[in-house]
Amino acid sequence: MQRINLTDIELSLSRLIYGVWRLADDPDQSIKQVRAKIDAALAEGITTFDHADIYGNYECEQLFGQALAQDSSLRSKMELISKCDICLNTEKFPDRRVKYYDTSAAYLNSSVELSLRNLHTDYLDCLLIHRPDPLMNAAETGAALDALIDAGKIRSAGVSNFHAPEWRLLQGHMRHRLVINQVEISILCQDAFLNGDLSDIQSDGLAPLAWSPLAGGRLFGDEAAAQRVRPLLARLAAEQNSRMDLVAFAWLLAHPAHILPVVGTNNVGRIQGLSEALAIKIDRETWFEIWVAASGNELP
Ligand SMILES: NC(=O)c1ccc[n+]([C@@H]2O[C@H](COP(=O)([O-])OP(=O)(O)OC[C@H]3O[C@@H](n4cnc5c(N)ncnc54)[C@H](OP(=O)(O)O)[C@@H]3O)[C@@H](O)[C@H]2O)c1
Repeated sequence: MQRINLTDIELSLSRLIYGVWRLADDPDQSIKQVRAKIDAALAEGITTFDHADIYGNYECEQLFGQALAQDSSLRSKMELISKCDICLNTEKFPDRRVKYYDTSAAYLNSSVELSLRNLHTDYLDCLLIHRPDPLMNAAETGAALDALIDAGKIRSAGVSNFHAPEWRLLQGHMRHRLVINQVEISILCQDAFLNGDLSDIQSDGLAPLAWSPLAGGRLFGDEAAAQRVRPLLARLAAEQNSRMDLVAFAWLLAHPAHILPVVGTNNVGRIQGLSEALAIKIDRETWFEIWVAASGNELP
């Protein structure tokens, strides 16, 4: 598995990342099943795992952490990313009237402590601010991220769903470099290619992580764009003796920004073989064939 070095820090991520947003959706939530997914990912060379405090209504980190608690040798084989700032108003927080964002130092610190406890670890490899917070006080948030890095609680910091003006404001108040921006990118969600995000990410030396790289499974659903593109994916998969999901990942991998897809399947069988996506060749004409089929429009 290829690895991507992050800027200004001795830390690399596996090119494919396993995201655990859906971990608590699996009817089998036994430690054995969680461990089976971790082992399947590690066997593919996927060592980076993407979390957030809120996933599974605050349950996913705990579920995953049980496997780490059971086998202390696991932690050193992986990189753990987590995120915070979204505050859910679920039954777990009856006092919250609405869902809101919180990038205050107090909230970041308490969320990191919770993630560390849940994951049975004493450090995160990267902490991302999950969504841009309109009330972010960049000086306070930047200082809090720097202090968490200095204290060794997180090795690095990054952002998610940010555009360049938002992360540059935060970066301007930090000593350490922001190293990641995680945004939605897939064959069915092409915005980042056109709105400047991927250009800005490359200019500023961030690693672009792509969430929902199969459009959350919609690529296999009924919507028109998915139906237009699927025969093409099926043909390419057959030609390369592969699978449609792997062709969809290869389409992202072919972009020169070095996109890191964050894969979300709960199916151990689908985790197996993921690394073969890196061997699939998508030439320029094929890349645009997929683009045009999905968008439904000829290029201007
Ligand atoms: N930063 C953010 O704001 C943000 C937002 C959303 C997600 N994320 C991150 O991104 C990760 C991935 O997101 P995602 O789960 O939406 O990714 P995804 O890989 O686009 O979608 C996964 C879904 O697709 C289905 N699927 C996969 N292969 C399939 C196939 N061949 N046929 C039919 N269905 C298939 C999976 O079902 P099975 O489980 O049955 O395979 C699963 O429900 C998350 O875990 C999280 O870490 C971040």
